[in-house]
Amino acid sequence: MSTMDVLVVDHPLAKSRLSTMRDARTDNATFRAALRDLTLMLVYEALRGAPLRTASIHTPVARTLCYSLSQPPLLVPVLRAGLGMLDAVLELVPRARVGHIGLQRDEMTAVASQYYSKLPKALDKSFVLMLDPMLATGGSAVAALDLLRAAGARNVRIVCIVAAPEGLSVVERHHPGVVVYTPVVDRGLNEHKFIVPGLGDFGDRLYGTV
Ligand code: PRP
Ligand code: URA
Repeated sequence: MSTMDVLVVDHPLAKSRLSTMRDARTDNATFRAALRDLTLMLVYEALRGAPLRTASIHTPVARTLCYSLSQPPLLVPVLRAGLGMLDAVLELVPRARVGHIGLQRDEMTAVASQYYSKLPKALDKSFVLMLDPMLATGGSAVAALDLLRAAGARNVRIVCIVAAPEGLSVVERHHPGVVVYTPVVDRGLNEHKFIVPGLGDFGDRLYGTV
């Protein structure tokens, strides 16, 4: 994989929040709080280079240029775990539109199947941030990217919390040009297709369904 396609946000604060989330002793509330902080840091990076609109304003002292996002991104959380990242992103981009994609991995085969999709139409001009915390085999990410591509999306960035090399390679092969923002690339997958060391089942830890 070309290094251009993965941006590892390895800031000390990102590492500390990720460590809290990895720790099996972390309770739901602390897990959610760390997720919020880490998502803010990742999205801050993922929005670098987003197009700006300029206008002229007066400060109390002088005239100057002011800036705002010319087009807030379309946010696409992948249900259900991706929903845990949505509120934090909306704090930074409150005017963003939100599409939803529902995917679930089969517990035995780890193959993802789709149970929901609601996306706005004509995404060709949209700047899309796909929110899915675990990139393991890459099956869910590719399925979600296929739906986004079919809806016209051309400019997609993925924000995740833990990525495995296997999943990154699969995304690169099927959707070259999609950039992944993550605080870490872990060792790999175990025999159950869980990320090692990872943090376990993200949705279960987020929602307390363990
Ligand atoms: C998790 C996670 C990703 C997917 C990653 O979802 O949120 O969507 O696994 O695995 P993959 O790269 O091997 O496809 P899961 O299917 O467990 O559903 P959930 O979010 O509803 O818990
Ligand atoms: N989904 C998860 O929630 N965790 C993993 O390690 C892999 C897929």
